[in-house]
Amino acid sequence: MEKKKAKVCEEVRELTSAQEDLIKAEKLALVGQAVLEIMHELSHDISLIRNIAEIMQADFPPRAKNYHKNLSMIVSRTDKAMVFIDKCRTINSPIKLELKILNIHEVMDEVIHLLDSMMASKKVEIKKKYTQLPSLRGDNDQLQQVFINLFLNSLHAMPHGGEIIIHTCIDKKEPDFISIEFQDTGKGIKKENLNKIWEPLFTTSKEGQGLGLSITKSIIEKHSGMIDVQSTEGAGTTFNIYLPYL
Ligand SMILES: Nc1ncnc2c1ncn2[C@@H]1O[C@H](COP(=O)(O)OP(=O)(O)O)[C@@H](O)[C@H]1O
Ligand SMILES: [Mg+2]
Repeated sequence: MEKKKAKVCEEVRELTSAQEDLIKAEKLALVGQAVLEIMHELSHDISLIRNIAEIMQADFPPRAKNYHKNLSMIVSRTDKAMVFIDKCRTINSPIKLELKILNIHEVMDEVIHLLDSMMASKKVEIKKKYTQLPSLRGDNDQLQQVFINLFLNSLHAMPHGGEIIIHTCIDKKEPDFISIEFQDTGKGIKKENLNKIWEPLFTTSKEGQGLGLSITKSIIEKHSGMIDVQSTEGAGTTFNIYLPYL
């Protein structure tokens, strides 16, 4: 009797939790839709303001230096706002992948090449520990976006320099996936924030927008992959990405 009761209790708990998840998912979808609509409205007004500011710049005589400076500021700030809006739209609209057969090391190396001088100037050393891997089907630009996000986050976490170690392999734990381990020696993530970092708009940085990791996660999941994180405050952070191969 006691056993039966415990089982019923367990089932009720599971059902309640599933129902809560469903409500949460529905709420999130509603919020996502609302954000899309707001962004759509805002983008019209902001681009109008930007274009008027640009036209006014041309109208003012060159000696009106102060006006030019202020108008340039309006143009550059509205540009920045448009980039933010675009990112929000990316999160809320389904990501379309342009699939090609890729070598993940080539994708990564192109990003490293792009960021090389920035990393060197911040005294961040990149160490590659690549092992031979099969090809995968993926979207080159979107996967580059993933790696750029990870590099920039690590860079922010290491203001006095440090190391980024990239280790690729086929992990015995997940033999159907390519494993990319992305490790830094930065300040790490507080335990209470570990679950929040994937949420859109969560950031601990003054200049951050809190969109990088939520976009990163969507891109990886669109590739039928997985991403997780381990971090120790004061020691560093490791992101593990798993992508299915051909
Ligand atoms: N490598 C890292 N080291 C320490 N903290 C990190 C790292 N990557 C992400 N984070 C934390 O996750 C938050 C969210 O990251 P992200 O979504 O890229 O937004 P943003 O970079 O704009 O803050 C960051 O503000 C930071 O607190
Ligand atoms: Mg970021």
